[in-house]
Amino acid sequence: MLRGAIIGVGKIAETGHFPAYIQSSKELDIEIIALVDKSEERLECAKRYFPQANIYNSIEELFADKEVDFVDICLPPFLHKEAIEKCAAKNIHILCEKPLCSDYKDLKEISEALEDKDIVFMPCHQYKYAPVWKEFIKAAETINEKKIFLQFNVIRLNADNGFDNANPNWRTDSKLSGGGISVDTGAHYFYLIKEILGVPYKLFANLYNLKHKDYNAEDSAFITVDMEKGIAQINLTWAGCKRYNSAMLICDELSLFYDGKSIRKIQDGEESIIDVPDMSDKRVYASLYSELIKDFTQRINSRNFSNEGLEEVALVMNMLEMTKQSNFYQNSMHL
Ligand SMILES: NC(=O)c1ccc[n+]([C@@H]2O[C@H](COP(=O)([O-])OP(=O)(O)OC[C@H]3O[C@@H](n4cnc5c(N)ncnc54)[C@H](O)[C@@H]3O)[C@@H](O)[C@H]2O)c1
Repeated sequence: MLRGAIIGVGKIAETGHFPAYIQSSKELDIEIIALVDKSEERLECAKRYFPQANIYNSIEELFADKEVDFVDICLPPFLHKEAIEKCAAKNIHILCEKPLCSDYKDLKEISEALEDKDIVFMPCHQYKYAPVWKEFIKAAETINEKKIFLQFNVIRLNADNGFDNANPNWRTDSKLSGGGISVDTGAHYFYLIKEILGVPYKLFANLYNLKHKDYNAEDSAFITVDMEKGIAQINLTWAGCKRYNSAMLICDELSLFYDGKSIRKIQDGEESIIDVPDMSDKRVYASLYSELIKDFTQRINSRNFSNEGLEEVALVMNMLEMTKQSNFYQNSMHL
């Protein structure tokens, strides 16, 4: 049996990770034996899901009392680096929420802490397991020697607050989050477009505050990436009036149109509908986390210590940094 600790038991821990562990622990032969959070209120809440688990206010308190095989880090991004370093130093397997960290400069030190260790490190890049995006990946695999146009639209009304009453707005303070919607949501689409269109080589981005002028981070991001198999356009906004997701994959022989409910597929003039779960529905998240945790535990059990997870987060962090740089240079060009 693998024994694990959840570090940071806030919103995504409760809504995504807890249900996934509760659903799959038996099948995967894992147990959550410890919960760590600075907030007593959050620990009390988490304890109701895992009555058998011990609770701690810090990683140090946990390490002084219990041995764990893996940790699941669900802290805000500015606390990931320290937590990863402490756990890697103890050779504990790590599942870590995205983005890897809030400061691009930390990527090097985190990589050094993880490289060549006999541990599994995996980022929570759970969109790869989503049925809708698996259809997009499958479709792109069948298209050869033709360029594909891929577009994602993610519309939200505002940035989510966290469950930490002492600091609910860390997401819109770029010092704590590393940036606005490009970081919070864009991070997912960067590894996803790589799964669909291969290696990225050029990126162009514009970041704006269309509605939320009080955010200390952009509320909208429009990013275009040139990739091995085509062009990806990622449009993200917290300035909408309705929660909505859509996407399309366009090529003359095959196209997919996703409207948040189903995919309309057009191939050789024939139309068909593929039913998929709504990606803007948060309940869908728990099932994706179950897949992610399954993959993570399988890697631990098979001692698969490849640098795959680290390489994926490094790519995402590099693309996030290019997004900032590109926006900076665009902003310096005015007519
Ligand atoms: N993969 C996804 O789809 C997804 C979705 C939402 C959030 N996230 C990520 O999950 C992470 C957490 O986000 P959230 O929305 O749950 O935030 P949150 O604020 O609700 O939760 C963070 C938790 O960490 C605790 N905490 C803060 N400082 C601490 C410290 N020093 N020591 C111990 N505990 C501390 C807080 O009390 C809180 O319970 C972020 O990295 C976020 O980007 C990922």
